[in-house]
Amino acid sequence: MKTRTLLSLFVLLTLSLSSCLKDDVEVRHIVYTPEEYAAISGVLNLPNDQVNFGVDLPQHMKNLGMVPPQISNAKATLGRVLFYDKQLSRNQTVSCASCHHQELAFADNKRFSEGFNGELTLRNSLALGSVANFKSSYEGGSTFSGSGQPQFFFWDERAHTIQEQSSLTLQDDIEMGMDLNELSSRLSAEEYYRVLFRKAYGTDVLHPALITEALQEFVNAMVSTSTRFDEGIAAASGDPFRDFPNFTQQENLGKNLFVQHCSSCHGANMSISPEKVANNGLDEVYQDEGVGGVTNQNTDIGKFKVPFLRNIALTAPYMHDGRFASLEEVVEHYNSGVKMHQNLDHRLRTEDGSGPRRLELSQQEKDALVAFLNTLTDETLVTASRFSDPFK
Ligand code: HEC
Ligand code: HEC
Repeated sequence: MKTRTLLSLFVLLTLSLSSCLKDDVEVRHIVYTPEEYAAISGVLNLPNDQVNFGVDLPQHMKNLGMVPPQISNAKATLGRVLFYDKQLSRNQTVSCASCHHQELAFADNKRFSEGFNGELTLRNSLALGSVANFKSSYEGGSTFSGSGQPQFFFWDERAHTIQEQSSLTLQDDIEMGMDLNELSSRLSAEEYYRVLFRKAYGTDVLHPALITEALQEFVNAMVSTSTRFDEGIAAASGDPFRDFPNFTQQENLGKNLFVQHCSSCHGANMSISPEKVANNGLDEVYQDEGVGGVTNQNTDIGKFKVPFLRNIALTAPYMHDGRFASLEEVVEHYNSGVKMHQNLDHRLRTEDGSGPRRLELSQQEKDALVAFLNTLTDETLVTASRFSDPFK
């Protein structure tokens, strides 16, 4: 009784306090002076309020030991503008967003994407916004990833940070073809960039490392946490093996099949991928050697990044070369199409290891797997205005 009275008093007090606040002072966090805002708003659709890029992880991820990235709002704001700016490519024709579209979970819907000169990329664009893409996870390394190995970037994992990835992409002969010092001077000429750099770094002397760091901050802020899968695992107290109350029977069947046949590589919790790279039997002879092309080790030929499957329904076509147009084709690959290779992962082989495994799923089971993969779509991430194109 006593606690209840106290509680209602407290509620009343906070209610009246907050309504006072609302009536009397308008709480705004103005970021730019009128002159600065004039320079910015000529070109950009940015509010003169602090845009919050902070990331809050759901409990089921915290329970795995994951730490949310600490994002600087000013750096992420600058990174957002850079991400959508075509001036980042040599002839000003493509931006990062040309191959990473927000509505497609920052992937592209083509097998290969068009670079600044119309040439096609050698691999399929990767989606962004997966939970282990952020700094505290890939730099934290052993603290949370099951196998003690942080997961790196690109299909062959040749970049260790997004800063490194961005630097390679900007200078790539097919993708953006840009000289980094030339880029710094090109951007310095824009008054809005001088303002944004001052806010982020306290200086308007641009430097390539600041450009790539701001891009990294923006990409690190993209964290998918709001899917039907997340609702389900929260309701199941973080246990991916239990039936999820918000799933249909078909989706739960699909989840069980996924846990049984797919999760030892892709992860059952959709947060940490237990296997970083693997050969999943796409070919008997690999033209693109993947990790093997980077390490020159025979044992790495045909191994590629085990991609995160969040938003997978939005990121067709699939695999490093975009060879599969639909999730049905992907499931059929694992069901009946896995090919033998010296590096084929043991999980995709028959028990004696001599040949590729056949799942022999029924049509109903294949449909259920696809239905499950469709629960991984994060509408919040793909519509959030803080990740959208800021250019007018
Ligand atoms: C011309 C198309 C194109 C442009 C422009 C482009 N990307 Fe990419 N991006 C790709 C492709 C293709 C891959 C996969 C390449 C590979 O693995 O070899 C990729 C991979 C990535 C990855 C790795 C994701 C992972 O999970 O490993 C990140 C991060 C990324 N891009 C961010 C960016 C940023 C930031 C920019 C702008 C500086 C950018 N991209 C510009 C096509 C592009
Ligand atoms: C041995 C580890 C392993 C197992 C087991 C496995 N996968 Fe994969 N998966 C991979 C690798 C590696 C890739 C990327 C291969 C490539 O592109 O060369 C991949 C790619 C995919 C992709 C395409 C992702 C994209 O962004 O293009 C989907 C979808 C997928 N797997 C679903 C599944 C499903 C469903 C199962 C279970 C039936 C499964 N995987 C089992 C390792 C595995």
